[in-house]
Amino acid sequence: MASSLRHSLTTKVLQSLRCINNVVLPEESQLLSALQVNSSSSKKQIELQLPLYTVIGKGNNHVEKKSIFQKGGEIIKGFQTDECITGISLSPPESKNLFVNFHLDISHYCRHLLIDILGTHEKDYVLKKLFSVPKDQIIVEFSSPNIAKPFHVGHLRSTIHGNFLSNLFLALGHDVKRLNYLGDWGTQFGLLQFGLDQGWFSWDEISKNPIRLLLEIYVKANALAEKDESVSVTARNLFQRLESGDEELSKNWTEIRQYTVTELRQTYARLGVKFDEFHWESQYGIKELTNVLSILEKTGHLFIKPGEGTKVVRLNDQRTVTLIKSDGSSLYLTRDLAAAIDRWKKFPFRRMLYVVDNAQSDHFVSLKSVLSLMGHAWANNIEHVKFGRIKGMSTRKGTIVFLSDLLDEAHVRMKAKQITSPNTRVNVEENPQITDILAVSAVIINDLKQRRQRDYIFNWDDALQDKGDTGIRLQYTHSRLHSLEKMSGVILPDDLHSLDTSLIQEQELIDLMRDLGRFHQVLQDSYNQLEPCILVRYLFDLSHSIGVALKTVPVKNQEEDLAQVRLAIFSASKRILSICLKILGIQPLDEM
Ligand code: ARG
Repeated sequence: MASSLRHSLTTKVLQSLRCINNVVLPEESQLLSALQVNSSSSKKQIELQLPLYTVIGKGNNHVEKKSIFQKGGEIIKGFQTDECITGISLSPPESKNLFVNFHLDISHYCRHLLIDILGTHEKDYVLKKLFSVPKDQIIVEFSSPNIAKPFHVGHLRSTIHGNFLSNLFLALGHDVKRLNYLGDWGTQFGLLQFGLDQGWFSWDEISKNPIRLLLEIYVKANALAEKDESVSVTARNLFQRLESGDEELSKNWTEIRQYTVTELRQTYARLGVKFDEFHWESQYGIKELTNVLSILEKTGHLFIKPGEGTKVVRLNDQRTVTLIKSDGSSLYLTRDLAAAIDRWKKFPFRRMLYVVDNAQSDHFVSLKSVLSLMGHAWANNIEHVKFGRIKGMSTRKGTIVFLSDLLDEAHVRMKAKQITSPNTRVNVEENPQITDILAVSAVIINDLKQRRQRDYIFNWDDALQDKGDTGIRLQYTHSRLHSLEKMSGVILPDDLHSLDTSLIQEQELIDLMRDLGRFHQVLQDSYNQLEPCILVRYLFDLSHSIGVALKTVPVKNQEEDLAQVRLAIFSASKRILSICLKILGIQPLDEM
């Protein structure tokens, strides 16, 4: 909500707090972020709420609560109302949380907010945050599928969530590195190398269709190995050669990875996802691991398990983890250790987020513990951002093997919906890119609206609805606002100060303005909890308020002043909707 209004309000609140005995004065920034638009007020009123626990303290018992309530009363006594803040009240003493409510003059509030949203460059508006987040270096590692293995729904969730988190951190001014860490290492790659050596496909074929063909080669080699032990032996030897840095094998491997990246980039582009860097498990072969191991050895943490020959680290009385197998090859965890250290050296991060499903919780606990044992204080900067499973997401062909299949399926289904929907305005045959964006919006919103850590059941029909809480609905709202701007024949004044906000009288518009004022708070909450569903639910509310206002409050054929101020509200709504969609990883559509 309008920052100048908030600032003058906090100054005044501080003034009245100064007059009260025994109150530790909060920082201005603390106060600013504590003030929230009261979203439950439904009257023709807009209020800012200050939870008393944020400035005076939490009342744990009756007596303490009473004293807090009294202090609240003193704030009110000392507070001077003015033309912007027209009234002040205290929530009833029996309420669970005590608030001071500031009643805002609607016309002033709307003027401030509309000028703020429409008069500021989009990027600056997001950054005009009313809370203070220091600019930090952040690594977000996400997606991270495996070569020659199916892309599963866990990778999809990681991709969608990781992209959202990167966008959010970036929008809030951080220095973000988006990393995709691909699984291309481990004993099974000896099998793949064996398969490649058989020449089942030419290099040319592989280069054109690497993701599918590599999986095919791997599956075929695996089947052979099950029947013929000598194939397994060859594969193991090949992997050992690869791991110890054999030049020719490494060169092949680099090339294959290059083809894979090229193909992956195309698919990610359909999803609107970009990475700054692609890293590979294979970057952390035995050579790179020696350092890690020698530090652990020197500090007495690494020892050889008697009888097995594996090298393990003891984390505590109950848990040891293996870092080197008896044949000398490395493990997933070992490579992650080396990778983390490497990343820290190149980009000393304030936070590094690993966006990976719940199932790998133990792995990341071990990773952090071993790094701490090694004396890396920055192990505390590592966070495993976990998410639950999706059940029931499959394509007509069966379970998902390739990301591109999922997107194709979404496209086909979306197209069928568009053809029958009364809301379709574009020529569906001529605009496949619109269908693709709609399909992707549906898949993304359907995922991000769920609480991150919960499992959920996927259903194509629910996701692709144009009514209800879906991505299609949000796109529909956005494109309606766009067409209103184009078709109303009304133009906003150059000087937004000349908007006559006293004409804003309708409950529907007041409700909408109240929603718009919640934007920064919602962003902050979503950021604090790394929880996209907070932002998505806000968009559903916003989209609902926009829909109601569009239905009841005309812009066309009105007096110019009235038409302009109404259009300004709809344009501001479109802007906020668009900013939020982009943060969620969705390209807002102007027509559909
Ligand atoms: N490739 C792994 C898998 O599919 C996920 C990698 C997660 N990131 C990491 N640094 N371990 O299970």
